[in-house]
Amino acid sequence: MAHKIAVLPGDGIGPEITEQAVRVLSALGLDLEFETAPVGGAAVDALGHPLPPSTLDLAKAADAILFGAVGHWKYDGLARELRPEQAILGLRKALGLFANLRPAILYPELANASSLRPEVVSGLDILIVRELTGDIYFGQPRGVRKAPPGPFEGELQGFDTMHYAESEVRRIAQVGFRAAGKRRHRLCSVDKSNVLETSQFWRDIVIDVAREFPDVELTHMYVDNAAMQLVRAPKEFDVIVTGNLFGDILSDEAAMLTGSIGMLPSASLNASNQGLYEPSHGSAPDIAGKNVANPLATILSAAMLLRYSLDAGALADRVEQAVRAVLRQGLRTDDIFEPGMTRVSTSRMGDAVLEALK
Ligand code: IPM
Ligand code: MG
Repeated sequence: MAHKIAVLPGDGIGPEITEQAVRVLSALGLDLEFETAPVGGAAVDALGHPLPPSTLDLAKAADAILFGAVGHWKYDGLARELRPEQAILGLRKALGLFANLRPAILYPELANASSLRPEVVSGLDILIVRELTGDIYFGQPRGVRKAPPGPFEGELQGFDTMHYAESEVRRIAQVGFRAAGKRRHRLCSVDKSNVLETSQFWRDIVIDVAREFPDVELTHMYVDNAAMQLVRAPKEFDVIVTGNLFGDILSDEAAMLTGSIGMLPSASLNASNQGLYEPSHGSAPDIAGKNVANPLATILSAAMLLRYSLDAGALADRVEQAVRAVLRQGLRTDDIFEPGMTRVSTSRMGDAVLEALK
């Protein structure tokens, strides 16, 4: 039976980078059925909502979703529920995509792209496991209200709610332990348990889950310290597991260690391994439509799609090797260009990956 892939290109560079990833997926001899739908600002323009029901239905029915990027400054003035970002938050929630895997790998060919000294980052291979459907991102109540009795009584006050249920912490911790078990067997749980009740609870549950995984060494770190250690000695980390808000911040930081956010894929999985796959970078409207964006993060996201949703690990390896091959050939899009390399366009980079796959 054909695997259904929903392609949601989104805004900015989204369409041009997803196009290259679809070309790669189509070249592998699999029985795949692609269907495309608008999302984000593109969907606001076409259908009046960033995540229209037709797009959500398509995503729900798919085995996997290939997502480009959403967002454009021209929608900044819209009400929050109509902003492009609501599309990705809505998809995560509606599909229960609670486990976000964000690898940060420094390809040896790109060692000079990092702002850190090569010896600090060379060989870097970190996996951030970010919880994606809970925490202060989705906690209720939230809003703006009259401040209750106290020093600010009578003023307006903005507020959000942080909470994690036991089952939410358990399942993401299990994802972290399992991932570490397949790597270097080290899991660092990041929290702020010196201040936050939610974090103390998180830590207690993670410690309990650890008993199921005796082969993985568990450590704990406060998020502020983790932010510091990530730039001081990033290679000390193997797998990091953390909540939604801390994971949002730390994964951008980890991405920059590699110097090239244009290279980093991500996977967001639910309990049945249905997944949404997207590059870690954004929609970059300033370079959209110019055929200069780096499609490799999206192509590497397609590799994660093969591995996690289609159970095609060997094909995923092939795609990743093809990406390494084009880097070895010296092909570079603008974002990772260095003197002496060959500057190529988005579509030319796609061509080269297809060539390397043969
Ligand atoms: C990310 C993004 C999103 C998030 C935004 C676009 C809502 O920053 O995927 O990291 O905060 O989760
Ligand atoms: Mg983010």
